[in-house]
Amino acid sequence: MVEIIRPARNRGFYVRMRFLHGRHGRQPEKMFCFRYFKWILWFSLSFCFFISFLISHSPNTHKPNNLSLSKSLSHSETIFASRALFESPNISALQQPKPHQGDLKNLKVYVYELPSRYNSDWLANERCSSHLFASEVAIHKAMLNSDVRTLDPWQADFFFVPVYVSCNFSTVNGFPAIGHARPLLASAVQLISSEFPFWNRSSGSDHVFIASHDYGACFHAMEHVAMADGIPEFLKKSVILQTFGVKYNHPCQDVENVVIPPYVSPEKVRSTLSKSPAEGRRDIFVFFRGKMEVHPKNISGRFYSKRVRTDIWQKYGGDRRFYLKRHRFPGYQSEIVRSVFCLCPLGWAPWSPRLVESVALGCVPVLIADGIRLPFPSAVRWPDISLTVAERDVGKLGDILEHVAATNLSAIQKNLWDPRTRQALLFNDHVLEGDASWQVLRALSDKLDRSHRSSRGSGSGTSHPLVESVQERQRAAFDGGRVTMRR
Ligand SMILES: *[C@@H]1O[C@H](CO)[C@@H](O)[C@H](O)[C@H]1NC(C)=O
Ligand SMILES: *[C@@H]1O[C@H](CO)[C@@H](O)[C@H](O)[C@H]1NC(C)=O
Ligand SMILES: *[C@@H]1O[C@H](CO)[C@@H](O)[C@H](O)[C@H]1NC(C)=O
Ligand SMILES: *[C@@H]1O[C@H](CO)[C@@H](O)[C@H](O)[C@H]1NC(C)=O
Ligand SMILES: *[C@@H]1O[C@H](CO)[C@@H](O)[C@H](O)[C@H]1NC(C)=O
Ligand SMILES: *[C@@H]1O[C@H](CO)[C@@H](O)[C@H](O)[C@H]1NC(C)=O
Repeated sequence: MVEIIRPARNRGFYVRMRFLHGRHGRQPEKMFCFRYFKWILWFSLSFCFFISFLISHSPNTHKPNNLSLSKSLSHSETIFASRALFESPNISALQQPKPHQGDLKNLKVYVYELPSRYNSDWLANERCSSHLFASEVAIHKAMLNSDVRTLDPWQADFFFVPVYVSCNFSTVNGFPAIGHARPLLASAVQLISSEFPFWNRSSGSDHVFIASHDYGACFHAMEHVAMADGIPEFLKKSVILQTFGVKYNHPCQDVENVVIPPYVSPEKVRSTLSKSPAEGRRDIFVFFRGKMEVHPKNISGRFYSKRVRTDIWQKYGGDRRFYLKRHRFPGYQSEIVRSVFCLCPLGWAPWSPRLVESVALGCVPVLIADGIRLPFPSAVRWPDISLTVAERDVGKLGDILEHVAATNLSAIQKNLWDPRTRQALLFNDHVLEGDASWQVLRALSDKLDRSHRSSRGSGSGTSHPLVESVQERQRAAFDGGRVTMRR
């Protein structure tokens, strides 16, 4: 929580620590030359910043509120960061490879610092950062800690708008109420579009939001209502990171989007695996635990799971190969790690957290959700690590799975147990190369054509030539620093 509220300070602390740490054991002579050189550099850099600051900020944008405070803060912190970069005497320390830079194409993301009622206030309830919709919290955390984050919005390719909309848990049933999602997001957009120039500049097309519940940015748990409501007008030009995805046209994905995995705590997975490894003995043939209505209710003409779970229960409830449980059990991950096949049937929405848990714990996911679009297809070779069974074929599950067990099961398990695959669907607090947050950044780096910073190079910029050239030099100085740092 502290990390989220005061991210910039943590980062500064880290830079300073490394700086102090690196000081020992330098030869005084070299030190002197280096210092001399670096002060000239530092001076010219600061001068550039100062000029660009004067040019790009008209004085009346400085209203004494928290947002503009954080805006000007970001500027001074950028200067501090670049100074620390050039001051550090330990060149070899700077040359340590940055593990998660990989092929992110020098992507830069600016994270808006919104008043706490949009995000961190919700963390008072600890479920907010751990339940299945918590990718909105996890991605925010990872972005704040990431190297692609820039504190200078003028340098950014994308603008991340951190609003938590899934944490208003009902006191009656514990489910998150999302009725407030639209007004809360609308108010955040209103705030950033009036306080910063970046939203209007692009109509929001380089702004990134997370919509991690059932039907993405339609913000309703029932499909027919979600479809009727559609995506709010003010989000339609932006990039939405969403758990919902299907291969056919659907109003709730009619927006630039990236399908992301639902949130599963990486600590919990690691703890389960430390007790029983993924490659260990698996004595359960087919596993499912979860809501399974014996006589599903007809809600406005719709049945939960399109009756698929009911059919599974009716056909295989008494089958000894099938371990089917209808009640909650906190230790269910220890069951997944004992299972060969894990059923991932649709619920109200096609996706489910079982998908992530099965993959992370090495149980072959059996997808039963027609037309589902899965997260990060470029990183996770879904056809090689999972099985897909059509909704109408659930009655044949037993035969299908027996056949796979007798033919290609070990090939599938070998692919599935590749640690890179198991990593790709988990969000860590600090981005690790190949983890889910990294995959999100990777997906954004494929959308750089939406970036103002990238497009300016090709002459579409409209700012004053002097601003342009100062910003250009400033960026060159930054990129230079970064190259040293990451090579
Ligand atoms: C510089 O940093 C590296 C890596 O952190 C360390 O191994 C090395 O001892 C440091 N060198 C000096 C001169 O401090
Ligand atoms: C601004 O910050 C102060 C303390 O940092 C806080 O008391 C106040 O409520 C904040 N105002 C807004 C509009 O968030
Ligand atoms: C949370 O949800 C409840 C019930 O749907 C609603 O009355 C309340 O206004 C919501 N709270 C916020 C802060 O939006
Ligand atoms: C962006 O456009 C809106 C609507 O036209 C306007 O109210 C707002 O002041 C503009 N923002 C900036 C920073 O100019
Ligand atoms: C479900 O209920 C709707 C009315 O809400 C009705 O028209 C429909 O026939 C019902 N379907 C079934 C299979 O009972
Ligand atoms: C395994 O066999 C099943 C059915 O026989 C097939 O659908 C699936 O694509 C195969 N998977 C792999 C990875 O070979």
